[in-house]
Amino acid sequence: MSEEIRNFDAYNPTHIVFGKNRLAELENLIPQDKKVLLLYGGGSVKKFGTLDKVKKALANHQGEVGEFGGIEANPTYETLIQAVDLVKKENYDFLLAVGGGSVIDGTKFVAAAAVFDGDPIHIFGNGIGEKKPITKALPFGTVLTLPATGSEMNSGGVVTFVEKKAKLSFGSAYTFPVFSILEPEITYTLPKRQVANGVADAFVHIMEQYMTYPVGAMIQDRFAEGLLMTLIEIGPKLMAEETPDYNLRANFMWAATNALNGTLSKGVPQDWASHGLGHEITALYGIDHARTLAIVLPSLLEVRKAEKHDKLVQYAERVWGLTGSDDEKIQQAIEKTRAFFESLEIGTSFQAYDLGEEVVEELVAQLEKHGLTSISERGDQTLEISREIYTRAL
Ligand code: NZQ
Ligand code: ZN
Repeated sequence: MSEEIRNFDAYNPTHIVFGKNRLAELENLIPQDKKVLLLYGGGSVKKFGTLDKVKKALANHQGEVGEFGGIEANPTYETLIQAVDLVKKENYDFLLAVGGGSVIDGTKFVAAAAVFDGDPIHIFGNGIGEKKPITKALPFGTVLTLPATGSEMNSGGVVTFVEKKAKLSFGSAYTFPVFSILEPEITYTLPKRQVANGVADAFVHIMEQYMTYPVGAMIQDRFAEGLLMTLIEIGPKLMAEETPDYNLRANFMWAATNALNGTLSKGVPQDWASHGLGHEITALYGIDHARTLAIVLPSLLEVRKAEKHDKLVQYAERVWGLTGSDDEKIQQAIEKTRAFFESLEIGTSFQAYDLGEEVVEELVAQLEKHGLTSISERGDQTLEISREIYTRAL
């Protein structure tokens, strides 16, 4: 008997404010009486004028407006907890993230931690905390500067623990942004490396929700395939851009948002093993999130060919237009996936990052420590299989 589409709820309360000159509308998006904390990263929003524009838009805001800068790429618990203290001490009651996935994820954590009952370390599980549910959070909005994570329209986040060398996710129904401003022109200042990261991260988000086994979910499948094909079409164009093209950036931004705003995963199995394996690589060796996924995914598809057979054939035919025997189509589709990452100047092996076979056991030990011992869509990816995937990626 074939699998059926599972029951699902669809709920996404985030108001998307997309297009040109939308920042000015901040004034109407945040209630006047709110005391607002602006949170940002390492300085790009200062350097490129986005923070000034935000402040200008809030010039007539009645409540006070404060700032917390310095949230790192792969935001750390150690830094974020300082923002939590500030929010509590100064009684901020609205947060505004101005940045990429790291600043937005960090802001989500601050929003939940500032009103959490007990020590916010317990927002996490995986051997770090006791994992207690988030039951409330401060309201927050975002001004997105980097299309990649989908964090601007989902309720999840990822936090890095420096000392414990861990990178863990959290989420809740309370940590959706109230609104997110998506101005494609804000992405014009991104270095090519970050544009490439954004395309690759979004690509793998789609794959994690699509590359499992078929359940006859026609809408989810076709939507995923359309997004993958869009990224395959615009990726090389973005890399070749001499001056930024508005529509290219707009399509990139909206594709990345849709890749992880909850739509694709409705009623279908999901994998997320590439992310699980990738987060350990970032935590130990500091490689950019998207690059870790490009190391893991092609090898994972090789190792998991049998389990993912039917979806790999569908992907080969519909996304890449491949013909031939099933085995040929699968092989070529995996090669094309790897070549796609490489075309974005993203290395797909540990060697490309000057790492060798010593990484395998270190990474497997971290997976074990964090309880990632039976992952993937069927929970059948054991440590042994993860070891094989890391080894194949050398
Ligand atoms: O820190 P600043 O100075 O602002 O510079 C940033 C940062 O160095 C820079 N940047 C951002 N916007 C820019 C810009 N530079 C020039 N012009 C702009 N417009 O880009 C660098 C990277 O930023 P970051 O926010 O770290 O990148 P990204 O958006 O890729 O976020 C990565 C984080 O998100 C997590 C990742 O694990 C990682 O910690 N993820 C979050 C997810 C979610 N919430 O759903 C899902 C993802 O799978 C992912 O795990
Ligand atoms: Zn990701």
